[in-house]
Amino acid sequence: MYKIPANSHFVGQKLIYVPECHSTNSLLYELNHSSALPEGTVVITDNQTTGRGQRGNKWEADPGLNLTFSVLLRPLFLEAKDQFQLNMAVSMAVVDALTPYVPSIIKLKWPNDIFIENKKIGGILIENQLQGMLISDSIVGIGLNINQVFFSSSNASSILNFSRQVNDLDEVFQNLMESIEAEYVDLRYLAPAELKERYLNSLYKLNEPHLFESSGENFTGSISDVDENGRLCVETERGRKVFSFKEVKFLN
Ligand code: BTN
Repeated sequence: MYKIPANSHFVGQKLIYVPECHSTNSLLYELNHSSALPEGTVVITDNQTTGRGQRGNKWEADPGLNLTFSVLLRPLFLEAKDQFQLNMAVSMAVVDALTPYVPSIIKLKWPNDIFIENKKIGGILIENQLQGMLISDSIVGIGLNINQVFFSSSNASSILNFSRQVNDLDEVFQNLMESIEAEYVDLRYLAPAELKERYLNSLYKLNEPHLFESSGENFTGSISDVDENGRLCVETERGRKVFSFKEVKFLN
């Protein structure tokens, strides 16, 4: 079971725990749609039966061993065109919260996969609703592999596999609530350049040659930046290429 966070002001202060649900993102959307919920409301479950990931993928997590939850935010101070700033802030919050649990460095694989070494240990799915040019409601879905050992995909792993220690899910959750709130509050007041610098410092394969695929073509390049629209900038032998999400894939 999960406790109301002791050290946050609004993130997680309304906590909706369900033992099982289809998708916490979908459930939070439905609940908020039928009667508006306070900002910071969290839906968390032990068993997500049809978890959703980026690019229409499924998110699978063994029941009771991992964290699967969604947070409702209302970043009305952010224009829709700047929505990647929210991705960066939430990604940094996850890195901050998980860092004490592993000896290894946690990296962010663009746009917001959570990586340790070459393994994916978590992912973020942010679904925004717009009001004109602004973001009115944002459902921030986070899936983190914490105590699961075995995975069907060889690219996936967990905190336990790197720390060799079973972690208390509620304790990790409490840390996440605090760090999400801190990064979100900073997002309103701090210069976007500062956030981007920290995001780039945690970026997987920054300035390292890597194999990519785009439009059926494989090429080697080095990630050099993320632009103000959140597009990935890759330096190649044919010059700089800039990709939106779904336009490029990392090849192993
Ligand atoms: C990805 O890496 O593709 C993003 C995965 C996001 C999974 C989380 S688990 C909680 C929330 N509810 C969902 O259905 N998806 C997100």
